[in-house]
Amino acid sequence: MTEITGIRLNSNVKLQMGTFHVAVWGCQMNVYDADRIRDLMTASGYVELKEPNGADVIILVTCAVRAKAEDKVFNQIGSWRHKGIISDDTVIAFGGCVGSELAHQIIEIDPDIAIVFGPRTAHRLPAMVAQFRATREPVVDVTAEALEKFDSLPEQGQRGPSAFVTIMEGCSNNCTYCIVPHTRGGEDSRPVQDVIDEVITHVANGVKEIHLLGQNVNSYRGMGPDGSIVRLSTLLYEIAAIDGVERLRFTTSNPMEFTDDIIQAIADLPVIADSIHIPVQSGSDRILQLMRRDYTADSYRELVAKLRKARPNIFISTDIIVGFPGETDEDFAQTMKLVDDVKFDASFSFIYSVRPGTPAADLEDNVPLEHKRQNLYALQAKLEDYATMYSQSLMGTRQRVLVEGISRKSDQELKARTSNNRIVVFEGSRDLVGQMVDVDIIKVMSHTMKGQLINSALNLSN
Ligand code: SAH
Ligand code: SF4
Ligand code: F3S
Repeated sequence: MTEITGIRLNSNVKLQMGTFHVAVWGCQMNVYDADRIRDLMTASGYVELKEPNGADVIILVTCAVRAKAEDKVFNQIGSWRHKGIISDDTVIAFGGCVGSELAHQIIEIDPDIAIVFGPRTAHRLPAMVAQFRATREPVVDVTAEALEKFDSLPEQGQRGPSAFVTIMEGCSNNCTYCIVPHTRGGEDSRPVQDVIDEVITHVANGVKEIHLLGQNVNSYRGMGPDGSIVRLSTLLYEIAAIDGVERLRFTTSNPMEFTDDIIQAIADLPVIADSIHIPVQSGSDRILQLMRRDYTADSYRELVAKLRKARPNIFISTDIIVGFPGETDEDFAQTMKLVDDVKFDASFSFIYSVRPGTPAADLEDNVPLEHKRQNLYALQAKLEDYATMYSQSLMGTRQRVLVEGISRKSDQELKARTSNNRIVVFEGSRDLVGQMVDVDIIKVMSHTMKGQLINSALNLSN
């Protein structure tokens, strides 16, 4: 039997609207959007199904950042059709970044797709579904005013102890390889009060950890209550002051605008977590320039040094692109050197993927794919070594963790997250889910750690 989730409305009339399923790919901003779509559809009288089987409406929140990410969604639709999960009656709503990238072309690729929406028009989904059901004509709507989406969404649903809060949409940086400015549009920051109100709603629902999101959060410039422009550092102080916020994260930070006021906020506010993601992309200044990333490998090293001075325990993770057009072995060696100098914590690395319409798509690329793959494997082996080194450094330490739920492997064990973003499993009572507790790290495995709960009575009273 299909499990039904998200039934928060008890009106029978609303249940008659039908069922929906949301599938999501891509970054945390898509996860945020997908959750808001769930809130919206539920408030409009639809019931969420955890599995796609039998759903009247299947909503796809897609990612366009690399060709592989884009292929995943089309493969998924094909597989669902093959298995009979999608029938002629299923309304397929294709959204997210591929939605806005390809817009009308999606209907040409697959004429059975009913609706195409983009990251900025997700809030219009119930109206689009209604329009399609009334006319049986495809509905394509991917452009909207800057922050209309955020003004048109219902209150956040309850979803565990950690919550994403998008503080800005889009990106105005135009790195030459990147499709995001095209799919999400230019940068628009949400007003400070909207962000604060969303955080207050979350903490009232028991959320302990707030994770601020944007493609480029360091360039946040939201309107303050008095009409002045507020920067990220000020927003961090404001959110840290909200009663009930016990841990604060923000992603993604761009090295180009990691100003001293943000570093000072990290030094001043213990509530900010001990881990930060700062994508470097390459250790070669020549490649960074071709990527239009406005910093050098050395200025990145200096930034890391300042951050570690402000917060000695901070874990720094990154993104690296291997095989940007024309990347030489010397360029790649500089990336490897940067990794050795900085010693990143868990990081993401990718082979460069040509994105249509981006400036880098016109650059000559004479490096064979096999060579790029070899480099990627060498880089990933190095990154993995450092990730293991950091995990091992936690052995025997006491960590404050946020209990996120029950472990997947054993229902006797809880799953929690450290401030530096490591997963810890430990034996404990289910009452602790949603709480911050202290554990001793007693074993370090490859991707998780085992902990031992410290004085549960004491922990529970926190
Ligand atoms: N806004 C963030 C990154 C967003 S995209 C920033 O500027 O740091 C997430 C990651 O995908 C990027 O950091 C980059 O490493 C990778 N990426 C983006 N475009 C890519 C492409 N065309 N090919 C390969 N990787 C890409
Ligand atoms: Fe893409 Fe660069 Fe913007 Fe990040 S900062 S989303 S990599 S254009
Ligand atoms: Fe992908 Fe769009 Fe995020 S392209 S990485 S889902 S902003």
